[in-house]
Amino acid sequence: MALNSQSQRPRVAVVGATGAVGEAMLAILMQRRFPASEVVALASARSAGQLLPFGDDKLLVQDLAEFDPAGVDIALFSAGGSISKQYAAPFAAAGAVVIDNSSAFRNDDDVPLVVSEVNPEAVRHRPRGIIANPNCSTMQMMVALKPVHDAAGIDRLNVATYQSVSGTGRQALEELGRQTAALLSFQDVDPQIYPVQIAFNVIPHGGEFTDNGYTTEEMKLVWESRKILGEPDLRVNATVVRVPVFYGHAEVVTVETRRKLPATEARELLAKAPGIEVVDEPADGGYPTPVTHASGRDPVYVGRIRDDLSHPNGLNLWIVADNIRKGAALNAIQLAELVLAESA
Ligand code: A2P
Repeated sequence: MALNSQSQRPRVAVVGATGAVGEAMLAILMQRRFPASEVVALASARSAGQLLPFGDDKLLVQDLAEFDPAGVDIALFSAGGSISKQYAAPFAAAGAVVIDNSSAFRNDDDVPLVVSEVNPEAVRHRPRGIIANPNCSTMQMMVALKPVHDAAGIDRLNVATYQSVSGTGRQALEELGRQTAALLSFQDVDPQIYPVQIAFNVIPHGGEFTDNGYTTEEMKLVWESRKILGEPDLRVNATVVRVPVFYGHAEVVTVETRRKLPATEARELLAKAPGIEVVDEPADGGYPTPVTHASGRDPVYVGRIRDDLSHPNGLNLWIVADNIRKGAALNAIQLAELVLAESA
């Protein structure tokens, strides 16, 4: 990419820097030594003036509404769909490549939807200067299913998710903590973020219900999988469940392939694939969980790899990843690295 800023290195803006994903973006930019000339932290007027840790430094949070995007090369947006709809275009018009973590543009034909291990070439075609980062549940499923699709052709997916509260944002993390403490002290809870109590409960409701009876989170798994794999007719049956886990999403996925992919072969393929760690030992605990494996780590973990006994071409997978890292912030920064590599 040609740099917009006056420096040899890109100037990066993180929009939503005070949020759960924004915080991880700042940490990952630092961990991966992203070669930024400057990182600008943006959030609402409520947070302006706050200082955020950034390596040994601190970043001063600026009010997005007052910020001039001129000179920004890469803008990482994670402040919700309405903020992206309002501000992504002005940032792109000022010359920035916008990498957007919201669902605002994911279904638009002229906005690529990209998982770095799955369809990295798609970042190059971005007529609006916007690249969309997939939904966290779709993201980890795509990393795990790409090698399966390449080897045997996926015909149908059946997925049930077990999604942690961090996917809803910082306030949901606080709600789970607050409700847990209240219940352990024999007090009542007052749900604010979720429609019903989340502590010590599971909720079959992510996003909003749509006309067909599925939720928006479920339909994201359908539409986004089709777009990322380039398979517009892929059949996807999804159920999204929110569970009282802070970080890390888990998924049970049953894949029906065009040719039989035995579990033994799938295990070998997955173990060699980028971004995946197979944890599938017969011994006790030889499977990944959000807490023991995924939380705070980069890979997508796959375990419980089994032939589906009820279907000749069925394969069962248990897929676990940190929804804030690979499911959001890490992939966004991997996309920024791909964009940067274009100029190398
Ligand atoms: P703020 O902390 O100032 O409200 P999460 O999804 O974890 O709740 O984070 C949402 C992020 O989006 C936060 O950084 C939040 O900033 C930011 N945000 C929310 N509303 C706005 C807004 N009107 N302008 C800019 N940033 C916003």
